[in-house]
Amino acid sequence: MKRLENKVAIITGGADGIGKATAIRFAAEGAVAVIWDLNAEKGMLLAEEIRQTGGQAEFFKVNTSDYGQIEKAAAGVAGKYGKIDILINNAGITRDASMKKMSVEQWQQVIDVNLSGVFYCTKAVSPYMVDKGYGRILTTSSVVALYGNFGQTNYVATKAGVIGMTKTWAREFGRKGITANAVAPGFIATEMVAAMPENVLASMREKVPSGRLGKPEEIASAFLFLASDEAAYINGAVLSVDGGITI
Ligand code: NAI
Repeated sequence: MKRLENKVAIITGGADGIGKATAIRFAAEGAVAVIWDLNAEKGMLLAEEIRQTGGQAEFFKVNTSDYGQIEKAAAGVAGKYGKIDILINNAGITRDASMKKMSVEQWQQVIDVNLSGVFYCTKAVSPYMVDKGYGRILTTSSVVALYGNFGQTNYVATKAGVIGMTKTWAREFGRKGITANAVAPGFIATEMVAAMPENVLASMREKVPSGRLGKPEEIASAFLFLASDEAAYINGAVLSVDGGITI
């Protein structure tokens, strides 16, 4: 028996990196992987790849920082499948600069996607979960939410903010059959990270007790567990998947 049989899962930022690995894994476990992303080229290709290997997947080009688009997209998914079981709030961007150099635009861009986008997607999707008395709301935070990071005032504010929202939703939706949890990845070797200079990668590895970077598939595994029936009593948690970097 597959672990997400007949579940409908929306994965934001699902065209690349951690979201892509999650879409592939969820589809392999029997879910319909609904990929929401700005990148139509990669998103369509991935959905096609998943379908060709026998999974169920669909791509929608949406900007998670535009509430109108998200509300429409959520209604479309619920209309087609009759429900939305799982929401993975994963789309995220960085616009790094030290506090001295960070512009108001850099601050606002990251807030719009990483914080408002998570609020918008959850606001648009959660009513369908409440209707069915079932739901899993999962959000990608980051280890930097727990210990801060040089040059990331904007990003850290959003990644700490989603932890606060997650705990609030755990309280608000707990009695409606819905759980809300966050995953805090450490250094994950997505294509962008893997392309960094070797000396930078070496210093990243050095900081991690496990001695290596994580794989996108290892974050997908955490999402799979938290989305599965085995995690039904886990609510309001932040699961660090970071090779021990936060200890
Ligand atoms: P990525 O850049 O490989 O993938 C992010 C995806 O989100 C892209 O496909 C992009 O098109 C999409 N996206 C960006 N803005 C969007 C928007 N407004 N609407 C719709 N889609 C949008 O990034 P990665 O590394 O896979 O990151 C995924 C999440 O994990 C992000 O929230 C990131 O902050 C978080 N994270 C990543 C870590 C890492 O080491 N890679 C560590 C900790 C957290």
